[in-house]
Amino acid sequence: MNKDQKVENIIEVKNLHKKFGDNIVYDGANLTIKKGEVITIIGGSGIGKSVMLKHFIGLLQPDEGEIIFDGHNISHLKEEEYIPVRKRIAMLFQGGALFDSLTVGENLAYPLREHTTLTEEEIQKRVSEELALVGLSEKQNLMPSDLSGGMKKRVGLARATILEPEIILFDEPTTGLDPYNTRKINEIIMDLNKRKNITCIIVTHDMESAFEVTDRIAMVYRGKIIIEETKENIKKTDNEIVKGFITGEPLDS
Ligand SMILES: Nc1ncnc2c1ncn2[C@@H]1O[C@H](COP(=O)(O)OP(=O)(O)OP(=O)(O)O)[C@@H](O)[C@H]1O
Ligand SMILES: [Mg+2]
Repeated sequence: MNKDQKVENIIEVKNLHKKFGDNIVYDGANLTIKKGEVITIIGGSGIGKSVMLKHFIGLLQPDEGEIIFDGHNISHLKEEEYIPVRKRIAMLFQGGALFDSLTVGENLAYPLREHTTLTEEEIQKRVSEELALVGLSEKQNLMPSDLSGGMKKRVGLARATILEPEIILFDEPTTGLDPYNTRKINEIIMDLNKRKNITCIIVTHDMESAFEVTDRIAMVYRGKIIIEETKENIKKTDNEIVKGFITGEPLDS
């Protein structure tokens, strides 16, 4: 993050309550995302990290509390009112969520055809640029089934960024990847943040990546965000739950 820029909160989660039947996932969580930062959300499996991300783009709505995006309360919009929000906030789903019946190039062209009035020539130019950014120029005409898992993730990332969102949500971007693809994804995230000033919100179990790419780290535990701090301060925390999680001790959730 550029330290000189005026810090502004792009997303604010205020007193989030969310349950599914008897399963209380959040009961009063607060979280602030600053414009232009890279923040990682950590926490045990099934604790509510993906649920948090889904609230940012209206795939889930709070039972109580508010999600403020760029100063607007987006907690209870109608389905069509989330369309402009989702153009500004892209989500990279686990596995990349590519269309299996379309080539890599067509997967990338798809959002441009749906949401822009670019000419065919301009679309092809953008597709080539984005593929080059993720280091997959020579894969344009292959089908997703011909790619490795790491490559699929990189294509998914290129597709998520092609409409130039302001925020990208990454749900476990490096889980299950080999060291080369992990490094590649981390480099792309850092590059998107620095060069395009895209705010990046990452959910991961991969603490090494978290400490490498992030400015701040937030941890979910028992329905709340129990810490939200710079990575330097996280390393120094005396909160036993956070310390234990970072060093890989089991949590009793
Ligand atoms: N649409 C849904 N309907 C019912 N329960 C749900 C729904 N979405 C999530 N849950 C439940 O909410 C809890 C939190 O789920 P979530 O997917 O956010 O966990 P997570 O922290 O992302 O875990 P993991 O690290 O394993 O991906 C889980 O108990 C899950 O079963
Ligand atoms: Mg999850």
